[in-house]
Amino acid sequence: MADGVMKTRLMKADDFDAVVAIDMRVLGTARPDYYEMRFEKLFGSRYYLPASLVTETEDGTVVGFVMGEIYMGQYGIFQEEATLDTIGVDPDYQKLGIGERLINEFVEHLKTLGVRRIHTLVGLDDPKLMRFFNSNQFGPSSTIALERAL
Ligand SMILES: CC(C)(COP(=O)(O)OP(=O)(O)OC[C@H]1O[C@@H](n2cnc3c(N)ncnc32)[C@H](O)[C@@H]1OP(=O)(O)O)[C@@H](O)C(=O)NCCC(=O)NCCS
Repeated sequence: MADGVMKTRLMKADDFDAVVAIDMRVLGTARPDYYEMRFEKLFGSRYYLPASLVTETEDGTVVGFVMGEIYMGQYGIFQEEATLDTIGVDPDYQKLGIGERLINEFVEHLKTLGVRRIHTLVGLDDPKLMRFFNSNQFGPSSTIALERAL
């Protein structure tokens, strides 16, 4: 893998700007408000365990991230289910295996916390992301998301 000198570590509050910048490059639109809310939840609440990761180059430049949530349930016991909410790799660093590595480290980290299942959502109109998740062992769940237009 070409990212041999890269390092994956737990996300910190200081990673905010880098995460917003990667997300903007990936989606073509900036979502600082969304990430402000996510960071506030992840780093400002004692009910969430740190489960989000970033990958950085040797010089500390963040080039990819995965954000997820694991909740503390009743009696302070962590739940067996977690969510993977967002993943993004800087377009200049895609197809080097960084996305796969982020998923694998995210899974290993959650396993050590007792998580047994990870949920995520992918749009049916995003075949590239669907293929990526499929090749990283995510399959259709037994529930279907329903919606009603208003
Ligand atoms: C999906 C995403 C995270 C993948 O990141 P990545 O670092 O490119 O992922 P990987 O390198 O592990 O794998 C991507 C593909 O490159 C291939 N690949 C990996 N290493 C490779 C290499 N050295 N040479 C050629 N291809 C390679 C993988 O097989 C994979 O193919 P697949 O998708 O057909 O299975 C990235 O494309 C992205 O950020 N997309 C936008 C995601 C998004 O919309 N997020 C917001 C909502 S969640």
